[in-house]
Amino acid sequence: MKRKFTTLSRAVPATPRAVAAAARALRAGQIVAFPTETVYGLGANAFDEAAVARIFVAKGRPADNPLIVHVDGPAMLHGLVRRVSREALELMDRFWPGPLTLVFPKRPSVPDAVTAGLRTVAVRMPDHPVALALIRAAGVPIAAPSANRSGRPSPTDAAHVAEDFPGVLVLDGGRTAHGLESTVVALDGTPRVLRLGALTLEELRRAVPGLRGPRRHGQDRSPESPGLKYRHYAPTRPLVLFRPSRARELAEWAAREKGALVLCADASAAHFPPRRTIRLGGDAAAVARNLYEALRTRKRGTALLVLGFRKVGILRTVMDRLERAATTVV
Ligand code: TXA
Ligand code: MG
Repeated sequence: MKRKFTTLSRAVPATPRAVAAAARALRAGQIVAFPTETVYGLGANAFDEAAVARIFVAKGRPADNPLIVHVDGPAMLHGLVRRVSREALELMDRFWPGPLTLVFPKRPSVPDAVTAGLRTVAVRMPDHPVALALIRAAGVPIAAPSANRSGRPSPTDAAHVAEDFPGVLVLDGGRTAHGLESTVVALDGTPRVLRLGALTLEELRRAVPGLRGPRRHGQDRSPESPGLKYRHYAPTRPLVLFRPSRARELAEWAAREKGALVLCADASAAHFPPRRTIRLGGDAAAVARNLYEALRTRKRGTALLVLGFRKVGILRTVMDRLERAATTVV
């Protein structure tokens, strides 16, 4: 997928010097975008309430949707959380650094702005040299949501961040490895997944056999995972999601609606009009990596017709995002 044009931006290569400058900006109360292995984050010093508030304004994010705090290692948890259970320790040992966010009881020193007034704080250690160097250089944990305007697909490339936030300093670390956000897990009570993500249920269940999956859509309005109730990942035109068995209906729809674009895995592309088809990739990991960029496509088209996937492994998360983005499911 080629980008059609470049935006004027403050995206700079993530050299050691740029990372040091970004760390100074964070310490001075500014917000800075940086790459992680999942998606780009829009960060502020987690202890700086005013800077955190600025993230919400910049994103247009509802104030009741808490942020994930990024640390450079488990030692940084001490300033943030009241206790770390044995289960949490085991999961951190196994999956950090990586796309696993854990929810802990928070210390009073964590501003309410970060946690949207919850008594818990979500924390993760990203598996990306630039993110880790930035946290280390800043010397503070970094509160960071995905660096997209609220409701837009998360950014998997510095150019996407620049598109949504023209003035913000972006450390450019190239395209992100996973292309989907971290998996959010709560461990109080029965361990459960609050948000599906880049770390699959299958992998997690090998470590936590009784782990509960996320609530189904429509049931996830609980205050436990506030972010899930909002419309997400939405492209700027209608998205029609077809179940994997409905390839024929999709082809008929595409034949009828000549202006529609089709999104599908490489293997299915032959069934659809080539000039209007965006290929998501040849395997599950590639589909995950390319999904958000495809949802941001600048190609002209009246609608996006997406051929869905069987919900296993990372494709379960891909389907979760597509269902949230969809205006219609066929
Ligand atoms: O991969 C990621 O997680 C990326 C990168 C930048 O780290 N970040 C990200 O943040 O996706 P955001 O803000 O787009 O999503 C954070 C999710 C939301 O669903 C939010 O409701 C949930 O984490 N969350 C944050 N704090 C929470 C808490 N204390 N309890 C339950 N859920 C929480
Ligand atoms: Mg987000």
